[in-house]
Amino acid sequence: MNVLLIGSGGREHALAWKLAQSPTLDTLYAAPGNPGIAAFAELTDLDVTDHVAVIAFCQDKAIGLVMVGPEAPLVDGLGDSLRAAGVPIFGPGRLAAQLEGSKGFTKDMCARADIPTAAYARHDNKAAALADLERFGLPVVIKADGLAAGKGVIIAETRAQAVDAIEEMFGGGFGTAGASVVIEEFMTGEEASFFALTDGVNVLAFGSAQDHKRVGDGDTGPNTGGMGAYSPAFVLTPELEEAVMARIIRPTVKTMADEGMPYIGVLFAGLMLTDQGPKLIEYNARFGDPETQVLMMRLTDDLLPILLAAANGTLDRIAPLTFDARVALTVVMAAKGYPGTPEKGGAINGIDHVSGDDLVVFHAGTALKDGQLVANGGRVLNVTARAATVGAAQAAAYRAVDGIDFATGFCRRDIGWREVAREQAEG
Ligand code: AMP
Ligand code: GLY
Repeated sequence: MNVLLIGSGGREHALAWKLAQSPTLDTLYAAPGNPGIAAFAELTDLDVTDHVAVIAFCQDKAIGLVMVGPEAPLVDGLGDSLRAAGVPIFGPGRLAAQLEGSKGFTKDMCARADIPTAAYARHDNKAAALADLERFGLPVVIKADGLAAGKGVIIAETRAQAVDAIEEMFGGGFGTAGASVVIEEFMTGEEASFFALTDGVNVLAFGSAQDHKRVGDGDTGPNTGGMGAYSPAFVLTPELEEAVMARIIRPTVKTMADEGMPYIGVLFAGLMLTDQGPKLIEYNARFGDPETQVLMMRLTDDLLPILLAAANGTLDRIAPLTFDARVALTVVMAAKGYPGTPEKGGAINGIDHVSGDDLVVFHAGTALKDGQLVANGGRVLNVTARAATVGAAQAAAYRAVDGIDFATGFCRRDIGWREVAREQAEG
């Protein structure tokens, strides 16, 4: 089967790496892909906002499955266009993608389905939002409703900060994403990510991971897309996972189907493990980046038939998934300046030298310039190791990081710290 993979980051490199191991894959195409993905795929500069062109490409190349990495094409309705044209696609349609595209939509859905999440209020007018602030304690969380590249969430410690955040959002500081605002109760606990595949009706658990969102060691500094991750997230015990499936994931899939917006693809649930049990922070309508890199290093099944079954409504025929019992851990090497303006063009050498069976370096933001691999984005490389413990995977990943020559790059040195500390405490 021929597959079209949409996207260009480390997540997509990990998906390409895994799909390339499938005995049923013929040709993998990637739009636009990156130099790492090019080892497994034919790259195309297909414009994915041009749905007619994507359909024509799929017909021309006999594409049997389209796999979408990032959220933008989904929120933009590519899922609907391709399904209407009879092309199987892994990813929700426009209405279902609102689970990521609109925080207020998700909170309202949770309220209708009685899904545990933070108490909230949703407002599309500033005066009403400001008046409603009174009801919430401190800290309070203020969110721009729409997609804001991970920047639309402000945790306000004081009323004045909350007022400023609301003023900024309604003042256009987050573009159209801030035309509607969600005010939320602040939850405390440890965060974990959980993934589940669905064909709109049937659901399969896809494992857990923990991300590190702040740029600096010890979880300091500004938020990023993610500076590293590991899987599984041991804090999410099998019992808690079952609670997440029963109280959060299955009611979401059922509610979306009942309301005529069946969700097809992966639900990426950001969870807060509170003392009252797991609560939903947010959904993403796609796989995580860099969470996918560690999930793909652990999935022992063939990925292609699983994605195809989700796209075709036959996920009930797929057995529960199997994962390597070992831990996978990925360290993001970013270009200096990230998450602000990253330095472009810095040379990268030594990747082949450090790579092996249990050590894979995924490309996130790289380019080839006159045959030299260079940095071409904020997050540049994902150095991903597999080992028996988080401590061992962390050590292996940093050994590889230290073997890569990337002078304009940097990384956090403490990915996995919570779990390493727990492993040490347990001796
Ligand atoms: P989100 O983009 O909704 O995942 O929010 C980004 C980050 O803000 C989350 O990973 C949490 O660390 C934090 N956050 C969001 N909502 C809440 C909440 N209601 N209580 C506490 N922390 C939150
Ligand atoms: N790493 C977080 C995300 O993919 O949204």
